[in-house]
Amino acid sequence: MRPFSFIRKKLVYLSLLATSLFFTGCEVFRDAPQSTFEAKGPVAQVQLDLMNLTLMVCTFIFVVVGSVLLYAVIRFRRKPGEKDKVIPAQAHGNPMIEIGLIVGSVLLLVIIAVPTFKAAVYSYDVPEEYGEPLEIIAVGYQWWWSFEYPEQEIVTANEMVIPTDRPVRVHLRAEDVIHSFWVPKLAGKRDMIPHRSNFLWLMADEVGEYYGQCAEFCGTSHANMLFRVFAKEEGDFDQWVEEQQAPGRQPKEDEELELFGKNLFQSKGCVQCHNVTEVAPGGVLGPDLTHFGGRTTVAAALLDNTDDNLALWLREPERVKPGNLMTEAVMEQNLTEEEIEALVAFLSSLK
Ligand code: CUA
Repeated sequence: MRPFSFIRKKLVYLSLLATSLFFTGCEVFRDAPQSTFEAKGPVAQVQLDLMNLTLMVCTFIFVVVGSVLLYAVIRFRRKPGEKDKVIPAQAHGNPMIEIGLIVGSVLLLVIIAVPTFKAAVYSYDVPEEYGEPLEIIAVGYQWWWSFEYPEQEIVTANEMVIPTDRPVRVHLRAEDVIHSFWVPKLAGKRDMIPHRSNFLWLMADEVGEYYGQCAEFCGTSHANMLFRVFAKEEGDFDQWVEEQQAPGRQPKEDEELELFGKNLFQSKGCVQCHNVTEVAPGGVLGPDLTHFGGRTTVAAALLDNTDDNLALWLREPERVKPGNLMTEAVMEQNLTEEEIEALVAFLSSLK
């Protein structure tokens, strides 16, 4: 076997491997919660359309340039027995080709530029005809999210609830370092910068659960800084707001385990960082837990909100979310399994 054909074979295998890897990364072909190819709101749709248009134009350029190149390579290559063949006639400075290339490039750029400008204007702020938006203040922390609803006077964490078919203006803030707000199926991304206010708007067409993700490197657990957006029908949304506005549920007199957990929550210092309005209001360093039991996730949407996962989070926070602020406090307390069980019971009861 000649060494050349061996190398050629290897190249073919390598390109096949690269192609299959490329398609594995392609989320179009499977159900992916963070796929930008599946827009579920007008802002994401506009962004997706723009990406598709750009992709089409670029594919067109790739095919045209590639074909011309391929044609030239094959047509003008040196064939066997043509060792002394002279260089083919050159077409430098052919005015028709030069003008054609310039006009063609400008045209393609305009095809991309006009919709880009329109999309930038559209996605900047809520168009007036959509009516009054719901205002939410999203604050990024290392590594979790707080969501405040100033008009409704409620605060929640890591799970943002919105009504469907109503525009939402999300004001973006950061408490420590730069984060970036991104809900791939609804809108994104936009930076949250300390000491600067920023905003974006989004709208959900359908009821559903949408995954969010911090999209700017912000430290050790950047990849673990997730959140969820729940879009509900207007009636369900109003009901959720009412539940959040109502005082949080507290353990009853016969719920001994929960009451023990409540005591621990106060005595072990949890209240210094976490607000539970009915127990000890004021903690702002960690997520508000007043209605924690009603949430579906723990630790910035990393784990499902189950007793086992919550216990794991209290037992080994560093394993779940490396670098997080709670680790030191929890290690200092040296919680026993009984204490963890009681804290889990108490926290889950907060609805
Ligand atoms: Cu916050 Cu990355």
